[in-house]
Amino acid sequence: DRLPALLQRMPKAELHMHIEGSLEPELMFALAKRNGLSVPYPDVESLRQAYVFNNLQEFLDIYHQGTLVLRTEQDFYDMTWAYLKRAAADNVRHTEIFFDTQTHTGHGLNTDVVINGLHRACVDAQQQLGLSASLILCFLRHLSEVEAFEALEQALPLRDKLVGIGLASSELGHPPEKFAKVFAKARALGFRLVAHAGEEGPPAYIWSALDILKVERIDHGVQAMKDPALVARLRQDKIPLTVCPRSNLKLRVFPTLAQHNLGAMLEAGLMATVNSDDPAYFGGYMNDNFTQTFAALGLTAQQAYQLACNSFEASFIDASAKQIFQ
Ligand code: HPA
Ligand code: ZN
Repeated sequence: DRLPALLQRMPKAELHMHIEGSLEPELMFALAKRNGLSVPYPDVESLRQAYVFNNLQEFLDIYHQGTLVLRTEQDFYDMTWAYLKRAAADNVRHTEIFFDTQTHTGHGLNTDVVINGLHRACVDAQQQLGLSASLILCFLRHLSEVEAFEALEQALPLRDKLVGIGLASSELGHPPEKFAKVFAKARALGFRLVAHAGEEGPPAYIWSALDILKVERIDHGVQAMKDPALVARLRQDKIPLTVCPRSNLKLRVFPTLAQHNLGAMLEAGLMATVNSDDPAYFGGYMNDNFTQTFAALGLTAQQAYQLACNSFEASFIDASAKQIFQ
């Protein structure tokens, strides 16, 4: 069977990956040591064994715990560089990296420490790995819109290092419309816009992300398949959906990969893409997501090609650069 080899060597773009979710236990322990901090687990193995989740919130609590070791610009650089090298090994040619600033400012760090560390790794990836990388700042939706405005304000001096704005964290009870004003502001400032919607939340959250926030892509969006009118809208407007199969498995959005609806999305003509979300926590980078999902669903080489094309098409690289990839 030559499909796994094709999936691995196929050039691809990653559009949904939270950099804090790429922090592997080994690096977490190393950064804790460097910063004179401790990790509340005796070793790497016992930490990895704690990565069992029943839902998004259980994951977010552990993910937040892991971010406590990040203190300096070099920490953010090292975490990002480790991800970029790993992504390049999976033949990822372009990546749009999500990050939170509110998590870190909540721990007493300044926004520029975060953004400058991430950005320096992205510059080095272009030069040393031939991998283009851009940054998308995600507001935390469990916090208030006023706090999102503060995060945006603090990032504006570093505006040139960012391509877009997103919305992440606890979805249920925090619908997109809670952030209508701050997304309108970000849009006026020229940011590209995305939002997590329809991961655990209902199709109504996808509608409001599109119609109220005016996002260009939906992160996850797997719940859209419950609403035929929404499926028609997503197909007509060619709205990209950044699907994360192993994330959905680990957070029990689907009981098994064989029950995932990625194949149904492609058959419905939706512009789905495959992404890793939080690879250190969900047990797999891009090629693991591709090979495991293709095996479980019996997807084809034609669908692999479609997903690769979708990933570049849905990216925020400019039109002239897109021609080089295709
Ligand atoms: N969903 C929402 N917020 C997140 C996720 C996710 O999958 N990963 C990191 N923050
Ligand atoms: Zn995500």
